[in-house]
Amino acid sequence: MKQLSVDELRTAFLEFFQSKDHALLPSAPLVPHGDPTLLLTGAGMIPFKPYFLGHEEPPYPRVTTCQRCLRTIDIDNVGITDRHGTFFEMLGNFSFGDYFKKEVIPWAWEFVTEHLELPAAKLWISIYEDDDEAHDIWRDAVGIPEERIVRLGREDNFWEIGVGPCGPCSEIHLDRGPEHGCGDPNCQPGCDCERYLEIWNLVFIQFHQDQEGNLTPLKSKGIDTGMGMERTAALMQGAKSIFEVDVIRPILNKVAALAAVEYGSEAKADISLRVITDHCRSITFLVHDGVLPSNEGRGYVLRRLLRRAARHGRLLGIQGKFLNDVVDVVIQQMMVGYPELSGREEYIKRVIGLEEQRFHETLDQGTSLLTQLIRKEREAGTSIIQGADAFKLYDTFGFPLELTREIAAESDFTVDEEGFRIAMQAQRDRARAARGETGYLGEDVEAYKTIQEQGRSEFVGYTQLEAESAVTALVTEGVLVEQATAGDTVHVVLQQTPFYPEGGGQVADRGALTWPGGHGVVEDARRPLEGVIAHKVMLKEGTLRAGDLVTAKVAEGERWDTARHHTGTHLLHKALKDILGEHVNQSGSYVGPDRLRFDFTHFEAVTPDELQAVERSINEAVMANYAVESMVKDLQEAKAMGAMALFGEKYGTHVRVIKIGGYSLELCGGTHVPATGSIGLVRILSEGSVAAGVRRIEAVAGSLALDTLESLDKTVRQAAATLQTNVEGLDAAAQRIVDQRRLLEK
Ligand code: ALA
Repeated sequence: MKQLSVDELRTAFLEFFQSKDHALLPSAPLVPHGDPTLLLTGAGMIPFKPYFLGHEEPPYPRVTTCQRCLRTIDIDNVGITDRHGTFFEMLGNFSFGDYFKKEVIPWAWEFVTEHLELPAAKLWISIYEDDDEAHDIWRDAVGIPEERIVRLGREDNFWEIGVGPCGPCSEIHLDRGPEHGCGDPNCQPGCDCERYLEIWNLVFIQFHQDQEGNLTPLKSKGIDTGMGMERTAALMQGAKSIFEVDVIRPILNKVAALAAVEYGSEAKADISLRVITDHCRSITFLVHDGVLPSNEGRGYVLRRLLRRAARHGRLLGIQGKFLNDVVDVVIQQMMVGYPELSGREEYIKRVIGLEEQRFHETLDQGTSLLTQLIRKEREAGTSIIQGADAFKLYDTFGFPLELTREIAAESDFTVDEEGFRIAMQAQRDRARAARGETGYLGEDVEAYKTIQEQGRSEFVGYTQLEAESAVTALVTEGVLVEQATAGDTVHVVLQQTPFYPEGGGQVADRGALTWPGGHGVVEDARRPLEGVIAHKVMLKEGTLRAGDLVTAKVAEGERWDTARHHTGTHLLHKALKDILGEHVNQSGSYVGPDRLRFDFTHFEAVTPDELQAVERSINEAVMANYAVESMVKDLQEAKAMGAMALFGEKYGTHVRVIKIGGYSLELCGGTHVPATGSIGLVRILSEGSVAAGVRRIEAVAGSLALDTLESLDKTVRQAAATLQTNVEGLDAAAQRIVDQRRLLEK
């Protein structure tokens, strides 16, 4: 067996598949792009779901990656065992309708036996119970003896992720020897004991699984494989656990040094050391990938991991904040595999430091509340923390439920988790009622799938505001319909459209559809699925049928206002970076005809002077009348040009880049003015905080900006007239009145 470091193993794997004509793609972020069904990237295939399903054209038929992954499903095992982690790297090779079983099986064998030099005689194969094809390839083409091929059921050898691509799989296992096993003479892969270590999973993607669990065969089959980096590296390094692997052990050593304990000397301390080691890897990448701590979704995963790590620090007796000392080592160890970490250290540590600080501030209050609760309950003769109390700890003190559960367990208490969920749900319902429910097109994607297969909607709105087009389909309440008449609201899919579908923070265009004998108002436009643009149309007159020819016309004035705000947003982004620093990054935006809103990472209020400097800098760029050009580039090329990349942009050979003179370069799909001069003027309306470390600026451009000046002007003139002075004398007159009043009051 070869001795390989993590970096060497990664290179060996990726080079092997590049030699088999696979394109090497970088790891996607932990936040899945445009996939509302998934919280986090938990496998190498996640970024490729649309390619397997045939929803999007893959940039290459064969791809290989080393994908950073995060799974919280085993979080309770992390620390307790020596092979569980929430963060891990997955090596994979993928085929989108290209090669299949008879290629991938021999390749996998070649790699593990010839490149990793694993002992062939100790390798076992598991296959899905009825997969004779895989069986025959392993036995006849590779030459694995019949007795080392094991057939297992759906639980073990069918790979699925809920809704999405799935299929039977085949795994390669290494027999670590009977001394690791359960003693059963018939022990083989599939047994729960530690004897057979699963190293590589080869998935034969063949089906799409829907919400109800129905399997539909896919038009073209695919391959998705996953080799667990940490486990394989542990094997190659003769390490007892993933925590001893070359890129992980230094992190654990750092934690041990901070706690002044020795790893391996006490079981309880070892658990804490492993928890902190793993969680610090996770939080580093979560923050890098744009997640901020919060009480919802991904933000909650981050908060929970971070607070759990911080608390284990306390259990080890570490005083004060320490996570960033560990994060330093994580970044240092992971830099070779993930060079994108470079330059982001300061930002990552700032976010983590702030959240750790906040946790410390509430930890003592929360812990003492919990101690009181435990005492009170004990006096009452129970050993249960009430759900409502656990919710209060969560809501007021930021205690993740798991933390309350852990602390309670230390006093042999349990938590009424059902009660917690009820309290949580009640709060959600209140919030939803307050917000008001909005219709979400995403629910009726089924109808759009059929449409998608018929052909794509072409967006022509970058260059024209009006287009003739045939109606591809009409959808009402998620169902395809043949026609709609005056009074109906219907979703109209067009072959060609100038309407910008909501996306990238920019609102949808509005306007009109007209056809001989009828017309309707376009209220909204969205992209329910890749390649499909649906317009929400209120029919005013006549009947509209699938196949009809219509004229689609965007409301021009609104579109221009939106374009001014969009280009203005890019200028604002650049000005903020110039004036506040490189740590400023977009964390959200709204671009509409009425205004622009820009959320960005920054850790204190922007001072009035800074704000003025930002506004001036934007308007200087407006006056410079830079040409605004759009170009389509290779993603890597765009990044190399220095384009400001948003988090989570997807794979794909091509991205659209907006270049504003030599001033700004950003990846962007939105609509813009041809030159910055058309913006006219930008005025900042407000600056404030939205979340810890995130600020928000609202601004207006063009005639709306002029309106703010005119109204300011008017107010000032009126005030001057009231005080019987002129504008220049206003300040002095106001001062006089204030002074007089003070005198009178005395
Ligand atoms: N997607 C497969 C897995 O995660 C390879 O195991």
